[in-house]
Amino acid sequence: MKTLKIYGSTGSIGKSCLKLLKLKNNDFSIKLLAAGNNLDLLKKQIVEFEPEFATINNKEKAKALKDFLDEENLKTEFIPFDKSYEINCDITLSAIVGSAGLIPTFKSIPYTKRLALANKESMVLAGEFINKECEMHGTELIPVDSEHNAIHQALRAGGKEEVKSLILTASGGPFFGKTMNQLKEVSVEETLNHPTWEMGKKITVDSATLMNKGLEVIEAHFLFGVDYSHIKVKIHPQSIVHSMVEFVDGSIICQMGKTDMMLPIQYALYFPQRVYTEDFSFNFGKSLTLDFFEPDLETFKSLKLAYSCGERGISDRIILNSSNEIAVNYFLKGEIGFLNIPNFIEHMLNKLERPEINSIEDVLEFNERVRKISIKEVEGGNF
Ligand SMILES: NC(=O)c1ccc[n+]([C@@H]2O[C@H](COP(=O)([O-])OP(=O)(O)OC[C@H]3O[C@@H](n4cnc5c(N)ncnc54)[C@H](OP(=O)(O)O)[C@@H]3O)[C@@H](O)[C@H]2O)c1
Repeated sequence: MKTLKIYGSTGSIGKSCLKLLKLKNNDFSIKLLAAGNNLDLLKKQIVEFEPEFATINNKEKAKALKDFLDEENLKTEFIPFDKSYEINCDITLSAIVGSAGLIPTFKSIPYTKRLALANKESMVLAGEFINKECEMHGTELIPVDSEHNAIHQALRAGGKEEVKSLILTASGGPFFGKTMNQLKEVSVEETLNHPTWEMGKKITVDSATLMNKGLEVIEAHFLFGVDYSHIKVKIHPQSIVHSMVEFVDGSIICQMGKTDMMLPIQYALYFPQRVYTEDFSFNFGKSLTLDFFEPDLETFKSLKLAYSCGERGISDRIILNSSNEIAVNYFLKGEIGFLNIPNFIEHMLNKLERPEINSIEDVLEFNERVRKISIKEVEGGNF
């Protein structure tokens, strides 16, 4: 039985993972469930899945969690959030949203044999340091993000030197085909109405701006060591082809399937084995249409910004990621408009000096600075 830690057990990916484990209850033993704020759901998960340890990244709620575990006489032990990184295990699922996922992801690497990575933001912020840390500790990195998971599968068809390009697919989100004018007044509700995937709020907004694809381009660069000029994006509204690899002989290998995150999670947990869990068969119906379009980089300029920040280097990536995170929070609160998200990122890219980044500590320090200045700028209406 393999041991598993789940960071972000109360989120969309975390819940899909637990749903999968319920169906495969003899294959994994849960070492840790870790949440951010949602104590009620975490308590339910503890009672149902009886992990060895549990934690929550909120001081008051941590005390309440400890009391709950003592009172209920459960076999689960409380552990402070920052001590949980050092619990040894076979697999760590990194499924916290945003830059909050970076420390748990990075600090867990020495203590886990495999990192199943959903938290793309940590690769955007610190891909070079995460790769180095994994190499140093012999930790295997398997992507959970469906596009990178698809590429991981397609790459098994050829050698690294035979790869011509990676082709990431994007659904296009709820606003595919819309003009800049039509995007001026879109609401939070319309933005959260994703046509093909059910996900957390931040990634759903990122999908609508195409920033999600931009973050994924950067993630792909670090996961697969491919230059940005050889990573392409195609809008594929059906979300059936999850991504593709083009090889030098002109062959394109794609991975297709249902839009259910249980599939890439399962792949990341069982690789290199393929297992049956439930009927995930894809229904071709009577006919099947697959469309692929070029992304509109002028209307959805977040994707263009991500390519250029990826090319320019780590400080630009940190500004891109963290100013986006802050802008998305304010958009979700209804305080800024949809088009203000990319405009704000551009504003921050123009405003901030780039420091030298030589370590993970430098990343964390600059990330905090970008977040603080971003909040001040939005609050002050300075863009
Ligand atoms: N959802 C998908 O289908 C999907 C697909 C591909 C990749 N991803 C990536 O997977 C990650 C998670 O996405 P999601 O959609 O599952 O997000 P989500 O539903 O919003 O869940 C986020 C999780 O992160 C936890 N969290 C937030 N802030 C935290 C903090 N400061 N400390 C500790 N935990 C914290 C939340 O805890 P509480 O709820 O307890 O506050 C929750 O468990 C993201 O990086 C996303 O890009 C998601």
